[in-house]
Order: sequence, then structure tokens, then C-alpha cells
Amino acid sequence: MLRSNRQVALVVVGVLFGVLFLQSLFEGEVNVTGSKDGVVRISRDWSHFIRSSDVLAFQSGQPRTAMTNYKLLRFIRNHVVAPSAEPLRLFESQELDRSQVGQSTRVNEILNGRTNGFYVECGAATGEGRSNSLYFERARNWHGLLIEADPFAYQSLLARHRHAYSINACLSPNNQTKLMKFDIAGEGGGLNLAERAGPRETISKGVSSTTFAQCFPIYSILLALEVKHIDYFSLDIEGLEVEILKTFPWGAITVDVWTVEYRTFIDAEFSKTASIQRYEDIKAVFEATGLYEEAGVLPPLSESGAISKSLDVVYKRKQMIGSH
Ligand SMILES: *[C@@H]1O[C@H](CO)[C@@H](O)[C@H](O)[C@H]1NC(C)=O
Ligand SMILES: *[C@@H]1O[C@H](CO)[C@@H](O)[C@H](O)[C@H]1NC(C)=O
Repeated sequence: MLRSNRQVALVVVGVLFGVLFLQSLFEGEVNVTGSKDGVVRISRDWSHFIRSSDVLAFQSGQPRTAMTNYKLLRFIRNHVVAPSAEPLRLFESQELDRSQVGQSTRVNEILNGRTNGFYVECGAATGEGRSNSLYFERARNWHGLLIEADPFAYQSLLARHRHAYSINACLSPNNQTKLMKFDIAGEGGGLNLAERAGPRETISKGVSSTTFAQCFPIYSILLALEVKHIDYFSLDIEGLEVEILKTFPWGAITVDVWTVEYRTFIDAEFSKTASIQRYEDIKAVFEATGLYEEAGVLPPLSESGAISKSLDVVYKRKQMIGSH
């Protein structure tokens, strides 16, 4: 109980000052040492902030986040590392085509030596050894986006100073933004078996440890970077290629050439049947789009002798301009 009008008046004045003080914090400008012009503008609109509850939803997948959610797109932008301004730093070789079975040379041939293109490489590893995109960056003046889930490989990738956007993340197999278990196993690493919707392919013998990787829908990542056209998409993620292809927004984003790995291992043993099955499943996805035709496998059949002995399948968009 307040005992006098004077006390009531004091409380009212106190509250008023408090409100004014808080308002001054959330509105207008505050000088902050360390910021560019010393001024940080503070918005009162809290709906624009990514809250801890949002981050929790991005990690747990609950509640499900829409692929176009603007906070999600902002969150992704916060995670993307911009292209390096430093000269490229290679540790292994100066050879231009570092791809495993000639992917770069073949795609370059299909695209007729196209310059200034944009690539996306998912399963970018260290960005050097077996890189399918490095050739285009060095020889054709392309830029692009490198996606790698393995945190160790990703640190190694950053050390290469690639002139590409990059993100330490995995692609979602079901359009859901969520953390998923990831097996760290060098180049054989991939999303953990228990979470794989696809063939029971794994590299269990080579797994050194398991971590969690933040997965985003490919559509959200491309929206966040405002990418509408991709000249070459390399998909090599040791497992969920088919599921991820099924999430691709074919109507919103055009991709001229794809290379998709289909060679499949079960319990670290190469499986001919599973490889052929995956090749067929990939084919079904591309055929269903009505936009693509197969442009062979790599290594080419003339070298490998059988579909099951090759590694990647190449698809090219029927209506692309300036191709072979
Ligand atoms: C911030 O500092 C600058 C100069 O350092 C000054 O001109 C400006 O008025 C200050 N702004 C506020 C809101 O105090
Ligand atoms: C994922 O989103 C794409 C559009 O980007 C849609 O075509 C596809 O059906 C969705 N898949 C699932 C599993 O929701």
C-alpha cells in the first residue's frame, strides 16, 4: 500500500523516466566504438531479429520453418562466407583440372568454354583435391558457391582462399531446416546412416567421429544469395543425392549442367546393384522434369565399360544456349 499522494507521484515519475530511457535505447542512434561510423541504428521492430527461439527451430526442425522464411534467409546469409579477396592458395598442385574423373573438362566441353559463369559445388571438401569447380574459377573466370558440411574440410577450404561464396552446411533431403548427424570420414564423410532416407550406403569403417551439421533446403540457400541461374551444379555428397535432387526448385532456378555421383558403397564395399539403382533413380528425377537429357557418364562408358563402373552421371539442360 502506498501511503501518500507524494509517493504515488514519485513512482509515476520514476516509471516515466524508465520508459523514456528504454525508448532512447531502442530508437535512434547510439554511438558504439568499433562500428564503422561509430553509430549503430537500433530498430524497435523486434520481428526483424533472429531470436534464440528461431535458432532453436532451425536446429530442431520444430516448428518447421518455411523455405522462404525471411529470418531463415537472413540466418543463412549470416552463415555464408564471402569470396576471398586474397590470391588463391593451393597446397597440392597447380594442375587446372583437379576433378576426379575429368568432370571439369567434360562440363567445360559441354558449355563450349563458357566464361564468367556461376557454379554450385555441394560436397566441396577442401576446395582443392578432386574439386570439380576449381577449374572454372581459375581457367574460366567463374565464381560460385561451395557447400561443405564437414567442419574440418570446411576450415581447410577457407584456407584455400577460393573466390567463391561458401557455407559450412548440408543440403536438406526433405526441404527441412534442421541439424543432422554427420559422419566425419574425410572424403567419404556424409550424413549419418540413421538419418539417411536413401540406400544404406555408408563408409562406417572409415568414420572417425560424428558431429552435427546444419542442413538447409537448397532453395533457401539459393534464395538467400539471390541466385536464379547456375551454369554448373556438382552434387557429390556420399548418399542423399536423389533425395536432394527431389527438393530442387526446377521451376524457379535454371541449371545448365549437372554432374551427380551415383557410385554407391554399402558397408564400405562397392555395390554394383546399389550403384545401378541410384543411377536409375537419378535418371527418373531428371526425366520427370522434362528439361534435361543425359550427356553420358564419367569416366565415359568407352573407358569404364559399364554404367556400374563409372562414377558420375552428367545431365544437360535441353534448352540451354551456346552448348555442344
Ligand atoms: C556520435 O558521435 C559523433 C562523433 O563521434 C557525433 O557527431 C554524433 O553526434 C554522436 N551521436 C550520438 C547519437 O551521440
Ligand atoms: C521441396 O520443395 C520443392 C520446391 O522447391 C518441391 O517441388 C518438393 O515437392 C518439396 N519436397 C518435399 C519433400 O517437400
